[in-house]
Amino acid sequence: MSRIDDVTAWEVLDSRGNPTVRVAVESGGERGVFTVPAGASTGTHEAVERRDGGDRYRGRGVTDAVAAVTDEIAPLVEGRDVFDQRGLDAAIEELDGTRSLSRLGANAVLGVSGAALRTASACAGQPLYRYLATEYGVDGTDEEGRLPVPMINVISGGLHARGGIEIQDFLVIPHGRDSIRGCLEVAWDVRQAVRDWLLDEGHRPLVADEGGFAPPLDGIDEAFELLVDAIETAGHVPGEECSLAVDVAATHFYDSATERYEIESLGRSFTPEAFGDLVVRWTEAFPLVSVEDPLAEDDWTGWRRLRGRIGDGVQVLGDDLLVTDVDRLDRAVDAGAANAVLVKPNQAGTVTRAVDVVHRALDRDVAPVVSARSGETCDATIADLAVGLGAGQIKIGSLARSERLAKYNRLLEIERFGDPEPPSVSAAAFGPE
Ligand code: PGA
Ligand code: ZN
Repeated sequence: MSRIDDVTAWEVLDSRGNPTVRVAVESGGERGVFTVPAGASTGTHEAVERRDGGDRYRGRGVTDAVAAVTDEIAPLVEGRDVFDQRGLDAAIEELDGTRSLSRLGANAVLGVSGAALRTASACAGQPLYRYLATEYGVDGTDEEGRLPVPMINVISGGLHARGGIEIQDFLVIPHGRDSIRGCLEVAWDVRQAVRDWLLDEGHRPLVADEGGFAPPLDGIDEAFELLVDAIETAGHVPGEECSLAVDVAATHFYDSATERYEIESLGRSFTPEAFGDLVVRWTEAFPLVSVEDPLAEDDWTGWRRLRGRIGDGVQVLGDDLLVTDVDRLDRAVDAGAANAVLVKPNQAGTVTRAVDVVHRALDRDVAPVVSARSGETCDATIADLAVGLGAGQIKIGSLARSERLAKYNRLLEIERFGDPEPPSVSAAAFGPE
């Protein structure tokens, strides 16, 4: 038992320069700090972050969320046991009174929940990943957890790049290596090959919100071809040492009035069925092993159809569909709509909810992929979360921008100084049994 002595919150700026909530929790002479990330392509069913509105920061300020921490949550949790994460999170949820945590603000709630977790690990005298592995680890991983296979953004589009192609991320999965160090070397080679191509073509190598390049491209196929060429140029075998993944983020070009997917870069719109056919074609034409949000967040029929067609060897990965929510995950498994789930703590709203989604996923043979948001800080908690829970995979963004590298560097630190199991594709839906 270690009582929480103090909870403080304040407003800081994230990687897009937008305000976000930072919280410090003190207990037993230890102080844990957590900073809440923010999405741009958020799902309708996510926990709801609280923004001030008004003129300041064009309405994006978080002073109300900060006040919710200091005025309402702090008096509730001060004096409670910092090790009782589940009890703490449940009490804050009850105080909020809404499922979406919109009253206090999910950013206020997660700020406290995450900072309490960090303080608890400090009070236990454990690095965070080991504390998580000990408290919440699953069978099959030891008390040092397991390093995740990273999926690494190389080309960005959609709402993260604006003006490019509609697909939000084209990523590589360097699954032929059994260390974070090796995975990063492969992804770095591929990223540099893309950068060389950009410079040869006379494009500027500017990066989008998650550090991916956003060159002018003729269309979606050109992005896939560019990446396959880059893997080969880098001296790796596409599909063997390094495969491709996409985050289609399809909700954002789905028009619910017409029930069509609008792809301007192809100059046409698609019915849900035809768009599913297009995704299937990509998996046949390219070494594509993971498709995230290939269909809109409530197109359950389309998801089920697609999962039935490609779901044996390809990850059908739910982000906006599942929003790190146990009930939606259960629904998707029952319906056969997805075989992998993105895990974003701020979609869930508490550490407990995020941990429960990872556990439920592993119980139901769904591959969890711990994920950053497009708006991040150098807070690296999710690196420890992925290792400690033995989630198997992680998605952080590209090998650029310090808010991304903070997490990769944390994985390298854990690999260097800890003793977790190595990254393994058997933990992924596309890997061998
Ligand atoms: P977001 O994007 O953080 O802007 O939601 C990340 C994702 O869609 O995976
Ligand atoms: Zn996504």
